[in-house]
Amino acid sequence: MNAPTTHRRLLKWVEETIALCKPKSVFWADGSQEEYDTLMAQMVESGVAIKLNEEKRPNSFLFRSDPRDVARVEKRTFICSVNPDDAGPTNNWEDPQVMKEKLRGLYDGCMRGRTLYVIPFSMGPIGSPISQIGVEISDSAYVVCNMRIMTRIGAKVLEVLGDDGFFVPCLHSVGKPILSPEDDVQWPCNPEDTHIVHFPEERLIWSYGSGYGGNALLGKKCFALRIASAMARDEGWLAEHMLILGVKEPDGKKTYVAAAFPSACGKTNFAMLQPPVEMEGYEVTTIGDDIAWIKPGEDGHLYAINPEAGFFGVAPGTSNLTNANAMASCSKDAIFTNCALTDDGDIWWEGMTKEVPDHLIDWKGKDWTPGSETPSAHPNARFTAPAALCPTIDPAWEDPNGVKISAFIFGGRRMNDVPLVFQAFNWAHGVYLGATMGSELTAAAEGTVGNLRRDPMAMLPFIGYHMGDYFHHWLKMGRQLKEPPRIFHVNWFRKSPDGKWLWPGFGQNMRVLRWIVDRTAGHTRAFESPIGWMPHYDDIDWRGLDFTEEEWNELMAIDRDKMKFQTLSHEELFLQLFDRLPKEMIFLRELLISSY
Ligand code: GTP
Ligand code: SPV
Ligand code: MN
Repeated sequence: MNAPTTHRRLLKWVEETIALCKPKSVFWADGSQEEYDTLMAQMVESGVAIKLNEEKRPNSFLFRSDPRDVARVEKRTFICSVNPDDAGPTNNWEDPQVMKEKLRGLYDGCMRGRTLYVIPFSMGPIGSPISQIGVEISDSAYVVCNMRIMTRIGAKVLEVLGDDGFFVPCLHSVGKPILSPEDDVQWPCNPEDTHIVHFPEERLIWSYGSGYGGNALLGKKCFALRIASAMARDEGWLAEHMLILGVKEPDGKKTYVAAAFPSACGKTNFAMLQPPVEMEGYEVTTIGDDIAWIKPGEDGHLYAINPEAGFFGVAPGTSNLTNANAMASCSKDAIFTNCALTDDGDIWWEGMTKEVPDHLIDWKGKDWTPGSETPSAHPNARFTAPAALCPTIDPAWEDPNGVKISAFIFGGRRMNDVPLVFQAFNWAHGVYLGATMGSELTAAAEGTVGNLRRDPMAMLPFIGYHMGDYFHHWLKMGRQLKEPPRIFHVNWFRKSPDGKWLWPGFGQNMRVLRWIVDRTAGHTRAFESPIGWMPHYDDIDWRGLDFTEEEWNELMAIDRDKMKFQTLSHEELFLQLFDRLPKEMIFLRELLISSY
């Protein structure tokens, strides 16, 4: 093995993995453009990837997954702590030894006929004190190319790692050895045996059977959220499913906020928000769209970095109207997965343009016309795009010290009852709002689309330990801060009884964001409602938007009986977590009910 490192633990792990998985060849990724080009050319040559029209979409590629492998699989995701109570009732658990034995059986010979790629990667700017190093071993060249966009990979990471630096080993196999030519399929995977497994005490990740998104790009959900949340609990910081954005006011003042919305609930859109032109002088800049690592600084404030280097964004619904910055980010050097292909070699998805093309090749590779019954792109089709291409990327996005966070925003997808925006009374109440957050299900989760589920801090599928301990951790963090960030709750998704959006959303969310930023600075009014501080109609900047006070009242209405019922329904989550639920949650619930 011609390894470009002398790191003993890494070499030993790679050797053991080779012995177990039995690949045809071994390849250490150096992260160069040349390497990327070569891997892509090989995948185009073998029919795994489609090179898009160089004029329309330079250096970009389309992949089509196996229809059985289109999203994260939560029911196959495990937290294998030694003690089941440390994974908690919201996670799947298996004894680590039992799980390892089972997976070793699956990994045995699983890379026959394939190349084993070693991908050293850094989550966060290389060398930042907040950053962490991982090494992913994968038998998928698609994973190597995606990791090169989503993280910092290659030789420069090995340099920082040195001979004995700490890294998180991340083992990934698609679980489909090439034993005969028929096994060499376009999108290898093994849905029957898929396992996404975390060993939090060992800081170790084993993923088998899927090549899609968070199942396979192990730096993202597996490391930066599940393993990192366990590290953060032990070390006194936060690893969150949050976007980070900056608001620049006309006088040049900059305020950073972090927002947690569940999967497919608008983080990418909000992170790249384009303010209405009439709100002159307001600018939104992007630090990250999915994950935030947040640490207390010496000054008693919280500082956040985006551990990622790219966006793995939901494609359908993204357009120049809804998110021109995301469109620009994937205008070149991008990877598209499960999007439709146009006749002139570009990509398309539902909602990209008003005019629907007359003919497409859909995500399954079949002819598609506007009369077809199924969408041309899969609802969870994604683009992988370099963050550096985003027109709104913040100048400080790679600042190793992070940016100071002044507010947290929680929000779900709620058709009924929950108003557009309100502010928590204090930190503990804000933690309560995050902890009891609900969202109607989207294609990214299992279950019936539209059903409400509790998704605490948008971390239900991503917390690497007991959810009750996680709430404790949040409460404790607040106590240690000089001045904790203000906490807000938003809902862009409220509908009228006849099913129409009550709020235009997207760029118009700037009006809400302005109120939030003004509140953190103590510059604007609010009134005390039973659920928190709320803006009056007149407290919102309405320049350029025709939105009547009647419409506002419907959007902001609180039905006391319904809120009481909503609050009582938090009991279901609380009962689940009972012996590790912070008592603050119970007291807050009682207090809230008494005020409706
Ligand atoms: P993950 O990458 O899965 O974590 O999701 P995300 O939170 O980044 O999701 P994304 O921004 O891609 O959300 C996409 C969905 O939210 C699309 O269906 C959008 O149309 C919808 N969406 C985003 N912002 C708004 C909004 O302000 N109003 C409404 N009504 N829909 C929105
Ligand atoms: C999510 O599901 O929240 C995502 C996409 O951001 S994935 O990386 O596939 O988890
Ligand atoms: Mn996400």
